Amino acid sequence: MPAASPVHVTVTGAAGQIGYALLFRIASGQLLGPDTPVRLHLLEVPQAVKAAEGVALELDDCAFPLLAGIDIHDDATEAFAGTNVALLVGARPRTAGMERGDLLSANGGIFGPQGAAINAGAAQDVRVLVVGNPANTNAFIAAAAAPDVPKDRFTAMTRLDHNRAVGQLAARTGAPVTDIARVTIWGNHSATQYPDLLHATVGGRPALEVVGDDAWVRDTFIPTVAKRGAQIIEARGASSAASAANAAIDHVRTWVDGTPAGDWTSAGVVSDGSYGVPEGLVSSFPVTSDGGAWQIVQGLELDGFSRGRIDASVEELVDEREAVRALGLA
Ligand code: NAD
Ligand code: LMR
Repeated sequence: MPAASPVHVTVTGAAGQIGYALLFRIASGQLLGPDTPVRLHLLEVPQAVKAAEGVALELDDCAFPLLAGIDIHDDATEAFAGTNVALLVGARPRTAGMERGDLLSANGGIFGPQGAAINAGAAQDVRVLVVGNPANTNAFIAAAAAPDVPKDRFTAMTRLDHNRAVGQLAARTGAPVTDIARVTIWGNHSATQYPDLLHATVGGRPALEVVGDDAWVRDTFIPTVAKRGAQIIEARGASSAASAANAAIDHVRTWVDGTPAGDWTSAGVVSDGSYGVPEGLVSSFPVTSDGGAWQIVQGLELDGFSRGRIDASVEELVDEREAVRALGLA
């Protein structure tokens, strides 16, 4: 019987497809562990509140022992009041004919007010994960609107890319995923990202040595991981949902529980200038957690190819930041 007081978890876009794959896992204890009760706060746009109510009916019907209650909101200030974990999933999808500036503008209208609402009322220990695309820049916008919340509480999801990279390397080498360590995703959650095996290991051996085929890494591994989102959209007719929800669970669970000794993961965090990534940009890095805050892994040597790939993705983040600033969104 859970004794602790519930942790408040807010999920935006709760009636969407990622929301549907995520909420049941949170309520069953997979986000925060088997001893932590959760109270869910579902945020939706008014026209999707009825659908969110339907999801809540199904959550009730699971009789999850750890689920201490569900509140449904169409107001961000109410949804984030007192929240400890904020999962910002709801976003405006790109539609035909929409330019990048239009997408950034539409999402600025969502993530700015949500950042402000987190600033106004979230719990002191709030941790924020932005999933909605463009995730890095949406996290940048939300963080900019929350000047009183420490910047290291705002993160963007690249754990799905990380998991995809681990899956591809396991398939290629025949090693179990548990043998794979120190894979890194650098940069933006977009096709410019750099999935990096330079420091990765397979069963304790350098991954590049185990693979023994640089052309595979460059011409197959990197583009497969970087373009996996588009491949899934093409195959399913909809963007990844269960794997995205799984990555969100992994991201928060690792943040709260810490990374295993000798390993790291990947997350979009606010840059402190490490590896030449301009301070303040939300970029993916190799990170560890001690259960409290993410730390960027320091001192990794980068070859010229890696440097070029990282710079190219960071350049895209700089462009997005400039576009957002030009729109007055941050
Ligand atoms: P979806 O369209 O099925 O659901 C999105 C939901 O968000 C909808 O129910 C919509 O009503 C809601 N919403 C829109 N604006 C909102 C607002 N202001 N407040 C609250 N809710 C709002 O989309 P999905 O498949 O669940 O994907 C959600 C987002 O996640 C998309 O932007 C997608 O591109 C992104 N995504 C990111 C990753 C990643 O790895 N970072 C992976 C997959 C998908
Ligand atoms: C993914 O990586 O699966 C998604 O971010 C793709 C998308 O554009 O929604």
